[in-house]
Amino acid sequence: LGQRRPKGEGTGVRAARRVDLGRIVALDAAVTGAAKRSYWRTSLQHHLRTRESDRLFLVAETAGQVDGFIAGEIRAFEFGSAPCGWVVALAVDPRQRERGLGSRLFTDLCRRFRAAGIRTVRTMVSRTQRTQLSFFRSHGLTTGPYLELEKQLD
Ligand SMILES: CC(C)(COP(=O)(O)OP(=O)(O)OC[C@H]1O[C@@H](n2cnc3c(N)ncnc32)[C@H](O)[C@@H]1OP(=O)(O)O)[C@@H](O)C(=O)NCCC(=O)NCCS
Repeated sequence: LGQRRPKGEGTGVRAARRVDLGRIVALDAAVTGAAKRSYWRTSLQHHLRTRESDRLFLVAETAGQVDGFIAGEIRAFEFGSAPCGWVVALAVDPRQRERGLGSRLFTDLCRRFRAAGIRTVRTMVSRTQRTQLSFFRSHGLTTGPYLELEKQLD
């Protein structure tokens, strides 16, 4: 991944393009430890092919290099809920963190959700991931009305 950039260099947020796939895979791999190329190719292709307004895929770019991405979806009436915008993935290059890139991505996604008539944004985070919890709390998210339930299948 890239060299840490000096603070203040201009970063833009734009819709993801096909050429961004390699960086998206690398950024996700840096966060999760697994390179899921076919998963991200399918996800990005679906977004690019359909251009559906209920699927959003944005990247943060500085001086021609993609340093972060966010993927969001509008899901209607899932679990009996009113339409809501979900953050399904968010990652910033570890060398470029704490410079506001994650916030730029999240704020832009929320602006697009709002323009689509959505009034609630939701995500799911691990209870042990304090950075994620702190990040989303800093953007005003609080505990939601649902509780995840699960069971191991034999
Ligand atoms: C979570 C993540 C996207 C934040 O990106 P970022 O560009 O560093 O975030 P920002 O610089 O916009 O930080 C915004 C706020 O988040 C909080 N925050 C960010 N990093 C933090 C850290 N390491 N510890 C505590 N709070 C933190 C702070 O409140 C910060 O506000 P401040 O700068 O006024 O203190 C980034 O750490 C990341 O990619 N983590 C790994 C992947 C991940 O956890 N994804 C989210 C769920 S899919």
